[in-house]
Amino acid sequence: MTDKKAYLSIDGLDEKIELKISSGTIGPDVIDVSPLSANGYFTYDPGFVSTAACESGITYIDGGKGVLLHRGYPIEQLADKSDYLELCYLLFYGKLPTAEEKAEYVETIQRHTMVHEQVSHFFNGFRRDAHPMAIMCGVVGAMASFYHENTDLTCPEDRATTAARLVAKIPTLAAMCYKYSKGQPFVFPNNDLDYASNFLNMMFSTPCSDYEVNPVFAKAMDRIFMLHADHEQNASTSTVRLAGSSGANPYACIAAGITALWGPAHGGANEACLNMLEEIGDESRVDEFVARAKDKNDPFRLMGFGHRVYKNRDPRATVMQKTCDEVLAQLGRSDDPLFKVARKLEKAALEDEYFIEKKLYPNVDFYSGIVLRALGIPTSMFTVIFAVSRTIGWISHWNEMVSEPHRIGRPRQLYTGSAERDLP
Ligand code: SDX
Repeated sequence: MTDKKAYLSIDGLDEKIELKISSGTIGPDVIDVSPLSANGYFTYDPGFVSTAACESGITYIDGGKGVLLHRGYPIEQLADKSDYLELCYLLFYGKLPTAEEKAEYVETIQRHTMVHEQVSHFFNGFRRDAHPMAIMCGVVGAMASFYHENTDLTCPEDRATTAARLVAKIPTLAAMCYKYSKGQPFVFPNNDLDYASNFLNMMFSTPCSDYEVNPVFAKAMDRIFMLHADHEQNASTSTVRLAGSSGANPYACIAAGITALWGPAHGGANEACLNMLEEIGDESRVDEFVARAKDKNDPFRLMGFGHRVYKNRDPRATVMQKTCDEVLAQLGRSDDPLFKVARKLEKAALEDEYFIEKKLYPNVDFYSGIVLRALGIPTSMFTVIFAVSRTIGWISHWNEMVSEPHRIGRPRQLYTGSAERDLP
């Protein structure tokens, strides 16, 4: 809270409405508009462009400077020096773990990597060609049926166990989606492997042949998990918070987050971006597609470009591009045609007045698809990978909200329907 105030004068009101202003650690101050309803007014902010829906200490984004901090640590430093499970600990508990705490956390996660055998039966109800995000919405929501009566949301230890179960089981479920689509048997988690290697093993090993995890692939996978882990109050995280505010089962809240993430405007952009790069196909067609993206009469948008908050380069895109370079070089595919298309597309867009004026830059989804494709992951699984990674962000925000006194989220509206009228 600060001593600063805002005063709103409204035609027809004798008195100005005094609104309190609060400051965070860094970032914009906020104006408390709650007194407006007592004066018969609502704020109106479709898409919440200028609305702070909550107080949080987990992640901070400065869209103008292209800054992303997790509990104060820059994503570039975390991606360079940390790993995904250490970042999970940081996001959930609010501090970096000691060596002992890290070892204990890794062991806790490993203790929960298997899913109940009954879960495998859920998959049989899906078509083999079902989109894996549709399956994930179903099976993650179904996890609520295993952990409902025995989860006390008021108990910090129960909340921590729920978070550990989700971080541990979500890669297992994701790999099961892929195996089911291939008609191959599910592969059990292998707790001798690190988190990313275990995921790749569950994805690609078969009973007939061992799968040798390429350490460069495992590092790239872990880096991709880190870059997608959390991102403040994005659409899917806000969905989880809203669902959680009613006291809903946390697994059901995470399923709601997966649902919101699926859209091509959000987490579905990585799949849409790779499909776009494949449609462009060759560097010679880049200008044609840049022109289409600028054409108001053409619904086409450059997938992987633009962001609600970043009006500068998404720092995750920079790290992802470096990872892309490393993986393709390791594969001897630095001349990968899609990567060349992506590089030309990025250059063309960044030099174009339309993109400069609208402050449209590559976001986290622009290069991630090329890396995932190089790792052998099918396009349909890209958003599933995003969901695996973002689960820690979702459950950390859920925990932050549930652990504090909170009210159920209940936005209002500007009503433009019929006034009261009698039935004929
Ligand atoms: C993620 O919120 C998060 O933090 C999300 C995320 C996370 O980690 O959780 O960062 C992950 O979702 C990244 C974004 C992935 N989506 C895409 O890459 C899809 C393509 N991008 C756009 O659809 C768009 O940029 C959004 C959805 C990302 C942002 O949309 P906004 O903030 O609502 O902006 P807008 O649609 O109002 O666009 C502003 C202008 C418009 O032109 P005008 O109406 O002002 O003339 O920019 C144009 C848009 O037409 N524009 C684009 C464009 N993105 C915006 N034009 C061409 N290509 C694009 N990609």
